[in-house]
Amino acid sequence: MHKKKITVCLVVAGFIALVTTINACKKDINPDAIYGLTPYNLVIPKGLPAMTIPANNPMTVEGVALGRKLFYDPILSGNRTMSCASCHNQSYAFTDSNKQHSTGIDGIQGPRNAMNLFNLGYQKNFFWDGGAADLESQVIGPIKNPVEMHEDLNNALHKLNTDPVYPAMFKRVFGGDTISATMLMRAIAQFERTLISGNSRYDKYKRGEITLTAQELNGMALFEDGAKGDCTHCHALGGTFSDFDFKNNGVDSIYTDAGRYRITLLASDSGKFKTPSLRNIAITAPYMHDGRFATLQQCLDHYNTGFHYTKYLDPVLQIKPKGRMTAQDMTDIIAFLNTLTDTEFVNNPDFKKP
Ligand code: HEC
Ligand code: HEC
Repeated sequence: MHKKKITVCLVVAGFIALVTTINACKKDINPDAIYGLTPYNLVIPKGLPAMTIPANNPMTVEGVALGRKLFYDPILSGNRTMSCASCHNQSYAFTDSNKQHSTGIDGIQGPRNAMNLFNLGYQKNFFWDGGAADLESQVIGPIKNPVEMHEDLNNALHKLNTDPVYPAMFKRVFGGDTISATMLMRAIAQFERTLISGNSRYDKYKRGEITLTAQELNGMALFEDGAKGDCTHCHALGGTFSDFDFKNNGVDSIYTDAGRYRITLLASDSGKFKTPSLRNIAITAPYMHDGRFATLQQCLDHYNTGFHYTKYLDPVLQIKPKGRMTAQDMTDIIAFLNTLTDTEFVNNPDFKKP
């Protein structure tokens, strides 16, 4: 008798699990909840490519607003003192002002420099080493990271589920009575995809709206010139200003941080880091994965004379002689880099704390 009861219970439990799974799958393909929501109209400035939005996370006005609220809310950190925006500040193109290493809630510094957050919808791998394969799954990293927001994921979800306002907001956007990790990831990713930067003086020049100075134009030519900067090889000129590929640009000869190697364990990936966009570069100091350079001049000095010829150095730099740029060449390239600051982006009211 007793045995039979257990069997019945197991069958019922199995059935419930099956129904829940089927429902969850159904939601993924065609979220019931998006009925009655307003599709978000993503405006892409001319000069940037179209953005592909994942089919399982369509953007809605309500979803973006929810993601924005979460991005600025310290509720996601262990002691409710730190939000995503604590290290990703809009005034500095969502980097960490001039801090070399971000400091988490326990006062411990991480080993890496906070990355800029814009044009994320064009990218595939996230973090300096590409440790997160999509924007949705990236969200959990900083919440759990002990040197960042240091919070247990279940605890973060519990706080959201018992909050006076979040449950209704999540239900409206994603349906369901319980806030899940997937919903949290999707909401923040929706907001992150709206952070598009493409209205710098360079963009306005390309659209024929303004002119650049002779020095800035010369800097652009040197940026492309294979015998001088040859920067465009990795930081593609125009569009997103990056190939977003992993490259070894010779910052080290011995690796304290082996970068991409940590993910792939391929020796050939030693010292490779994700090529950052050079948009807004004048306002995102310090530079490189560990924030070792304080100024753009130091970055140019690195590419001119400082880089290390190692086995794994990118082939493009491998064949470059040291000292190929004059002081004037470097000054002109910096003048060009200064045209990439997008003041409309850093002041856009839609991206501020709601
Ligand atoms: C304590 C500071 C800190 C906090 C808080 C923080 N970040 Fe970051 N963020 C960083 C650092 C440092 C990196 C680079 C990490 C690495 O490469 O290992 C980074 C990288 C990223 C990236 C990758 C960007 C790219 O181009 O690959 C995204 C996206 C991001 N953070 C979003 C967030 C979100 C969303 C939150 C809140 C849930 C958040 N961050 C909270 C410091 C922080
Ligand atoms: C072989 C590819 C490659 C070439 C060529 C190259 N870069 Fe880079 N650049 C990178 C990579 C990869 C990083 C990140 C390295 C790191 O974090 O340690 C980077 C980082 C930078 C940074 C710091 C960005 C930040 O957000 O911290 C600046 C500035 C920069 N490069 C400018 C230039 C300029 C100017 C040139 C031409 C003189 C150039 N790069 C040529 C691959 C390249």
